[in-house]
Amino acid sequence: MNNDIERILISQDQIEQREDELATELTAKYQDQFPIVVSVLTGAMIFTSDMLKRLNFKLNVDLVDVSSYAGANSTGEVELVQDLKSNVAGRPVLVMEDIIDTGRTLAYLVQLLKDRGAKSVEVCALLDKPERREVEIDGDYVGFKTPNEFLVGYGLDYNNLYRNLPYVGILKRSVYEQ
Ligand code: IMP
Ligand code: MG
Repeated sequence: MNNDIERILISQDQIEQREDELATELTAKYQDQFPIVVSVLTGAMIFTSDMLKRLNFKLNVDLVDVSSYAGANSTGEVELVQDLKSNVAGRPVLVMEDIIDTGRTLAYLVQLLKDRGAKSVEVCALLDKPERREVEIDGDYVGFKTPNEFLVGYGLDYNNLYRNLPYVGILKRSVYEQ
């Protein structure tokens, strides 16, 4: 598995340090807000679980599966694969995402949550690839800005592989350009 990685972009230590910083910010902001933390499956799973352990305030957790990606190229279409269980009306919502790429997934999800009457919607993303943005949307809390490379690990996948790498790495082109 590690042979398919060109190089490590962000180490586990770097990620964990940044998570501490983000969690401090979020804990100050959400102290008495009682938000629903929505994790976007499957990529945000590892980042979400890291963050949840660091968030020191009352919250609910919910999951949503929104898919816009097939292989290494975004299809541009967003589909709600698995809906939330909670009613977000009147509640602050904090969306946890692995990476903001074109922005389509988040734009769709944020709009959906607002349409359902969420009191507020904020986005916390581990990674942000600003060069690829097609829809105007920004993360409110971002771990790292990354170059325009195809990344895997720490939840991010290529065809549902490499999610379990304990770092964010650049996938060798030879793996997806065949
Ligand atoms: P967007 O809708 O184009 O912003 O895409 C967001 C989703 O695409 C993310 O939640 C990821 O699941 C996936 N994605 C975007 N860039 C990468 C990448 O470099 N590696 C793996 N998955 C990615
Ligand atoms: Mg995703």
